[in-house]
Amino acid sequence: MRFDDRRPFSLAPPIERDRTSGVRFTDETDLAAPDLFHPRLARAHRERLTPTTGGDVWSELARDHASRIAEAVFVETERGAIADRARTAPREAEAFVRWFEDLRETGPGQGDGLFPWLAREASHDAMRWFLRQEVAGEAGFDDLVAMTQVKLPSRAKLELARNYWDEMGQGRAAGMHGPLLDKLADALRLHEGDEPIVWESLALGNLMVALASNRRYAYHSVGALGVIELTAPGRAVDVNEGMKRLGIPGDLRRYYALHATLDVKHSLAWNAEAIGPLVAETPDVALPIAEGALMRLEAGRRCFERYREELWTS
Ligand SMILES: [Fe+2]
Ligand SMILES: [Fe+2]
Repeated sequence: MRFDDRRPFSLAPPIERDRTSGVRFTDETDLAAPDLFHPRLARAHRERLTPTTGGDVWSELARDHASRIAEAVFVETERGAIADRARTAPREAEAFVRWFEDLRETGPGQGDGLFPWLAREASHDAMRWFLRQEVAGEAGFDDLVAMTQVKLPSRAKLELARNYWDEMGQGRAAGMHGPLLDKLADALRLHEGDEPIVWESLALGNLMVALASNRRYAYHSVGALGVIELTAPGRAVDVNEGMKRLGIPGDLRRYYALHATLDVKHSLAWNAEAIGPLVAETPDVALPIAEGALMRLEAGRRCFERYREELWTS
């Protein structure tokens, strides 16, 4: 099946004003058809964030208006799904960081059987399918951090800056993280082929862009990015091991080998220098940080479940 992601979201008739709840959405923004919704939102995000030389300002604004509504419907729906658990997060900084770090063991999708299987059993084709999905859902950690740090308090901002600088290979093109993944994708020709990208991986990328590019979700984004640093190393170890077993050379595996260790350090620093101080200064941000972390983990859990369904039954 081919998705028509070129068809933009439209403003009318999807929005009906509802006197009690404000706005109600139907049709184009209907999340009941996520395999149509997420390719469209991914495309809208690409169009919104890609630098251009200009164009028709008014049609661009209308397009952004519609896609931002669709995006908000999606994020608010995801928030609703994790709200109860998020409310259990403490508001005192040290206790909050402990709660947050506990997500590594108890968060949604943690300890999924997919990863030991990738490490020990997956075929080359299965690994390639998995990596293709992962690359498609990758929103670019560097840009997400850059968008998130705008107008944060200095201590958190400095930590996001250090993290960003590592993403930038500390100023060396050869060490930049994004291109390391591109190199793997090119070598394995992950962008070629007909197998559809499952909506769950696009939803994960859409969530991260939505959180980082809307200031109302800035603290959600701090939580979501922090939980990636917290949980990525465990998965990266398995993926790297699986690729090694399948004979994929070390220079192509570098993205995963690097994140298996570097993100342990990133996570400790993110929690100590960004999350802890932000909550200590403003206890009210504990809830959105917790929600962001849980939404991101839930989006990952949904991917792993779909990946297993596709890989273990084919
Ligand atoms: Fe990275
Ligand atoms: Fe990192």
